[in-house]
Amino acid sequence: MLARQALRSLSSHSRLFSSSSARQTKVAVLGAGGGIGQPLSLLLKTDPLVSSLSLYDIRGAPGVAADVSHIDTASEVTGYAADKLDEALDGVKVVVIPAGVPRKPGMTRDDLFNTNASIVRDLAAAVGRVSPEAHILVISNPVNSTVPIVASVLEQAGVFDPRRLFGVTTLDVVRAARFLSGITGASPSETPVTVVGGHSGVTIVPLLSQSAHGKSVTGEPLGQIVHRIQYGGDEVVKAKDGAGSATLSMAYAGAKFTHALLRGLNGEKGVITPTFVKSDLYASQGIDFFSSNVELGVNGVEKIHPVGPISAEEQKLLDAALPELKKNIEKGKAFVAQS
Ligand code: NAD
Ligand code: LMR
Repeated sequence: MLARQALRSLSSHSRLFSSSSARQTKVAVLGAGGGIGQPLSLLLKTDPLVSSLSLYDIRGAPGVAADVSHIDTASEVTGYAADKLDEALDGVKVVVIPAGVPRKPGMTRDDLFNTNASIVRDLAAAVGRVSPEAHILVISNPVNSTVPIVASVLEQAGVFDPRRLFGVTTLDVVRAARFLSGITGASPSETPVTVVGGHSGVTIVPLLSQSAHGKSVTGEPLGQIVHRIQYGGDEVVKAKDGAGSATLSMAYAGAKFTHALLRGLNGEKGVITPTFVKSDLYASQGIDFFSSNVELGVNGVEKIHPVGPISAEEQKLLDAALPELKKNIEKGKAFVAQS
């Protein structure tokens, strides 16, 4: 009873899930036994738009599934052990990937590349083989490289549809709203901030000038909040002191983005949120993946919104972001080309 009340309260207070009687969907989590995977699986179990949850990990997924499956929501939950990846992917419409190692203090996200690139490559190949029409949501870092890796793998398999691949940058958006709320005193629901670019350090570009509350922040406080949004992940890595990076806030952000996609897939109009997708916005500069506001629809990416009017300070941030982003994207593509 208490757990049910807590979950109801979570949904209503955070507005994580809107209620809907729309068509429901089978969702898989690859990496479900991990720090993100477990709470993400919990939150997805409470999403009314999820009819079936398929939980896979190289270790621990059947246990997580048995646990989560007792929650009194309608969805079915099945756990799959290491040798059951194909079964886990059978018939899924949405695949969320938080598989891979997290940072320790002193590391950049790019330092995770050597381990996570091959994990993500192999999982993407399985999705392309078993459920080529699934929408893939990549959480594993470095997102700026792992998303191009998934695209290249699917391209090689002849099944890539750019409308169905998303790098999850929602945690940057969640942090930006929370941090702006903290300095303006307004509720986070009133302080949404569009965050564009990519998901690491200087490639994270918050557009505070486009926010009603954000545009009032200038001078030193502006520099401080921009830095905090760009390096919020480091705060958590430092505080966890070797035990990993953001897991709970990321699970929240991952569940939030998954729910937004499911609303779009169900035909709801006007579902718009930043996400890192194949994009023409900066293709003339050799950058073919970029996060900006994206409208989500029945086929996934419905419309990619341009960055829009930005301040001189934000233009400087964008100028610093683009070369780094280009490098990260090329690294991902080169990895698959050489594999
Ligand atoms: P974790 O180590 O707690 O969990 C990772 C899980 O992946 C483990 O259970 C592990 O067994 C599993 N795994 C490893 N190889 C696998 C494979 N081949 N198939 C299936 N599962 C596999 O790590 P975590 O804290 O959950 O973080 C996971 C990833 O998410 C990291 O790369 C981290 O940097 C990233 N992350 C991204 C964001 C973001 O905003 N996109 C935020 C936080 C963390
Ligand atoms: C985050 O932003 O918290 C994640 O990308 C994890 C990390 O390594 O900081």
